[in-house]
Amino acid sequence: MKHTVSTLRQQQLNGDKICMLTVYDYSTAKLMDQTGVEVLLVGDSLGNTILGYPDTLSVTMEDMIHHSAAVARGAQDALVLTDMPFMSYQTSVYDAVVNAGRLVKEGRAEAVKLEGGRDFCPHIEAIVRAQIPVCAHLGLTPQSVNALGGYKVQGKDEATGLRLVEDALAVEAAGAFMLVLECVPSDLAAFVTKQLSIPTIGIGAGPGTDGQVLVYQDMLALYGGKSPKFAKVFADAGAALQSGVHAYIDETKSGAFPGAAHGFAIDPEILQAIRDKINL
Ligand code: KIV
Repeated sequence: MKHTVSTLRQQQLNGDKICMLTVYDYSTAKLMDQTGVEVLLVGDSLGNTILGYPDTLSVTMEDMIHHSAAVARGAQDALVLTDMPFMSYQTSVYDAVVNAGRLVKEGRAEAVKLEGGRDFCPHIEAIVRAQIPVCAHLGLTPQSVNALGGYKVQGKDEATGLRLVEDALAVEAAGAFMLVLECVPSDLAAFVTKQLSIPTIGIGAGPGTDGQVLVYQDMLALYGGKSPKFAKVFADAGAALQSGVHAYIDETKSGAFPGAAHGFAIDPEILQAIRDKINL
């Protein structure tokens, strides 16, 4: 079944949790799509996980388009949601619409995600008017890492908690179809979820949201480093990958690989004819 903004809304109304995972390439997208995960997020976290930057700030529109188009080629049923990278929408409402349009036209995104609250409502309204669904993102917004002074849980005191609730109401009123809440206290995220009619998706925001999202390298232990506290490791694909590579190295060095089953035969008479010609 093809997942769309309407089916996600219906899922929320049915109390069926929405599952979202990041993905950045064709073959992984194809595998994930077959699992039934409803949303594939081409996150700008690809700056960290794929490109090796220390943060998401250097990610470009070209990076996002390149990876989004690859994911879209592998996604049959899941909704492809693509992040608007740093400075692709903050600069003006005009830039926001043009760049959201590029993610749809060139990156084959079916919806876009942008970080920020009330300050970006005019941007959300204009993108939605251009018929592009927008998912908002509040709480820990990694593109604001320098302004926030690091990657910290957001909304823990009265002023910032209230601001977060007001921002959530504002982005919904601006037309966002969904809201990601990142690193927000669980009870606050549950409260925000109750205040809104659009689905909320949590990451480090507890069980009270309408769905969850994780960076797949974190949940499959593929990152090589330490996973964040909120990211449960569901399978050790990193260990499986390394054990496969070790076996390949061992068998290649010992000569066990490649065996006859992995090679191609030639008619011995043809080989003899080649030998004769070379040795003339
Ligand atoms: O870029 C990303 O992966 C994200 C998720 C953490 C929600 O925005």
